This record gives sequence, structure tokens and C-alpha cells, in this order.
Amino acid sequence: MDQRKMHGVWANRWTFILAATGSAVGLGNIWKFPYIAGENGGGAFVLVYLLCIAVVGIPIMMAEVLIGRRGRMSPINSMRYVTSEAGLHGGWTGIGWMGVVAGLMIMAFYSVVAGWALNYVVASAGGGFSGISGDEAGSLFGGLLQDTGRLTLWHSLFSVMTLAVVAAGVTKGLGMVARVLMPFLFVVLAILLVYGFTNGDFASAFRFLFDFKFGKLSWDGVLVALGHAFFTLSLGMGSIMAYGAYMPDHANVGRTIVTVGVLDTVVALVAGLAIFPIVFASPGIEPSAGPGLMFVSLPVAFGNMAGGQIFGTLFFVLVAVAAWSSAVSLIEPGVAWLSETKRFNRVTATIALTLVAWLGGLGCIWSNNWLEDKPASGIYVFESLDFLTSQIMLPLGGLFIALFVGWLMRRAIVASEMDAEGHPLFEIWLFVVRYISPALVALVMIFSLADKFKG
Ligand code: PHE
Repeated sequence: MDQRKMHGVWANRWTFILAATGSAVGLGNIWKFPYIAGENGGGAFVLVYLLCIAVVGIPIMMAEVLIGRRGRMSPINSMRYVTSEAGLHGGWTGIGWMGVVAGLMIMAFYSVVAGWALNYVVASAGGGFSGISGDEAGSLFGGLLQDTGRLTLWHSLFSVMTLAVVAAGVTKGLGMVARVLMPFLFVVLAILLVYGFTNGDFASAFRFLFDFKFGKLSWDGVLVALGHAFFTLSLGMGSIMAYGAYMPDHANVGRTIVTVGVLDTVVALVAGLAIFPIVFASPGIEPSAGPGLMFVSLPVAFGNMAGGQIFGTLFFVLVAVAAWSSAVSLIEPGVAWLSETKRFNRVTATIALTLVAWLGGLGCIWSNNWLEDKPASGIYVFESLDFLTSQIMLPLGGLFIALFVGWLMRRAIVASEMDAEGHPLFEIWLFVVRYISPALVALVMIFSLADKFKG
């Protein structure tokens, strides 16, 4: 059967780039990167993160895309195809299975945070930020976290939005969203950057992010940085593999993926440079404020700049859109697989999986109020899901993908999918995927987990 007809193919290389960037650029860049950089002391963390993107993330991303393009099916079935092509046992399809589960686990909390952004669209449009101080922004956010009804409403709305696009089919449902709205996001981030530069404490922010002092970074911080490299590139769980399956035959994987990786990194750094100047200029906000960092710092900027009501509204709309195009890719691997089994059509498959993730999201929302013995952050289920996926499942998935492509796939197949036989860069990439990336992932996981369970 022709799988290409079943799921569709991207119109051209640029549609793939935009869709993959749409998947990669999301809450991970704008919401998560700044706060985990803040929690882990800035500079050294950022440097390790950048190294992880370059040496582990981008090379493995190419490996993941090429499996998808070779198999042309859902990650589970693509893995099955390349495994049998390599004459191996089906155990390797476990990469696909783990990915489907990880995708739903991420979607559970992702959709709740995207709901926060939707709530902030309305708050900003209603003038709720005007003249706000850091402390006031803190209580605004705290109030939202306590309001389970409102959280459930926004989380549910976001789930339905995601469902709609995935049900329509990713290649159809997503092209326009990516093409029109991603560039807008870049423009508003640039405006925030200028605001931070002129009104915030830009020098402190810059030093915080780029002054590479290693003293403060623990093994745990290194694992957080590595895990985030996977998270932010949508890697290690099949999203990018699924998108690779819809990639046209002649598109050059290497160049395409470098473009996506660079765009993603630039957005994260610009988000950091937009947020931290405000953090350092506002006495009520600490860099280590945690998951609320963006939601308490940016209202201060919008509330005190000319036209802030409009920019603030636009910004949170764009954050929600960026989250939307990522969320779609979180459930796509499972949906593609279910629709290949023929027992489901695309719509019923999407409804079933969205429902599972939605329930997980309710767990995140309600555990906040339910637990008698609240953890300091008050976000218990959320933190467990985040830890298990970002720091365990995605790096493991990536490790196995690298080992599979580096050691088990026939070299001739890898070279022809990369369309780069004999190119010196191909040799370097293959070396990295065989030795460097897997070794780094394994080492970081072993050291940091050992540290965690020791302490
Ligand atoms: N990359 C997305 C982000 O940074 C999140 C994501 C992770 C999407 C894994 C798909 C798969 O927000």
C-alpha cells in the first residue's frame, strides 16, 4: 500500500522546514528555556545546552528524520520497516512505542501551560496588566494556578484546538498556520528584545545568560540541559520521525535540519534576552522563579510600555499558536499509528488520544489543589511528567535512534537517504552519531541519575 497517499506529503522542502520548526519552536523555547536557565544559574547551563544542541540534538535529529523518510509510516511502523530491512528483531520498534507514550505524557502538561497562555491573552486584552509591578504580576499568576475551573476551561479549549488540526491531517491542517504565524512570532519577540534593551537591565541579563562560569552547574543541571535539547527539538519520541515520513524524496536532510535547529535555538536565546532584562529590573521577580517566570515577568513589560495592551495580547496569542503547532506533533505519532491499524480512522484516533492526554492534564491541574502535602512548587504531577519525559524517555529514545542509525542500518541506505555519500560532512556526521552522541547521552544520564539517587 502507498503510505504516502495515506498520510500526505509536504508540498516541498520549505513546508517541511516550517512544519518541523512549528513543532520545535514552542513553549520549550519561550516558557521553559528561560526558567530552567534561571533555575540552573544561567551561563554554564546555557553553554552546555548549546553544546548539546550542536553535538547531540542536531545529529540525532537527522538520524530520526531519515528513519521516518525511509519507513514512510508512523514511527512505530517505520521502526518496524527499518528493523526488518536491517534483518533484526522487532524489539527496536519499542522506540516508536515509547515515543507515543512520551508524546501523550508531554501533551498532558503542555496543554495546561498553553492554557495559561490563552488565559493571558484575555487578561492582556482586558487591560489586566496595565501599570502592574513584579509582585502584582506574581499574585496574578498565583491566582490563576489556584483557579482549577479556569485552568480546566483553557486546557480543554487548547485540547480541542489541537484535536481539530490533527484530525484534519497534519500536512493539510498545518501548512498555513506555520507559514503565516511563525514569522509573526519572530517579529513580536524582536519588539520585546528592543523593549528589554531600552527599559530593562539588559547588561545583567546578558551576563547572566552568557557568562560561562562552571562552578554553579551540577550534574543534574547538565541532564536538564541535555533533556531540554531533546525537548526543544521535538526529538527522541517520534515527532520529527513522523514529520520526516511526509518529507519529499529529494529534500536534503542535512541542510534542512540544520536550518530547523538554528531557528529553534535563536528563538530560545531571544526569548531569554527578552525576559531576563525585565526580571533583573523588577525587584519582585527572581531568575529562579520557576515555571511562572515568563508569566510574571512579561506582564510587567507589557503593562508599562506604550501599546503594551496590544503587544501583550498579540504576544500571548503567538505563544499559544507556537504551542499549538508543537502540540499537534506530540500526538501525531500515535494518531498516524492508530490510523494505520485500520481499526480507527484519523478522526476517531485523534479523539481517543487527545482524550488520554486531556485526562493527564486534569491530573496536573487538580494535583495542585488535591495534595495535602504539596511540594514547594505546588505542581506535582506536572513535575513528574516533565522529569520522566525530558530527562529519561526523550534522551533514551534519542540514544537508541543514534545507535540504530549509526550501527545497525546499512550504510548504503543511510547514505542514500542523507543523499550525501562520500561527502566529508557525511563522514563526520556518521562518526558523531555512532560514537559521540550516544556516549554523551549515556554518560550524562548515568552521572546525573547516580548523583540524584545518591543525594
Ligand atoms: N519542541 C516543543 C517545544 O519546544 C515541544 C515538543 C517536544 C514537541 C517533543 C514535540 C515533541 O515546545
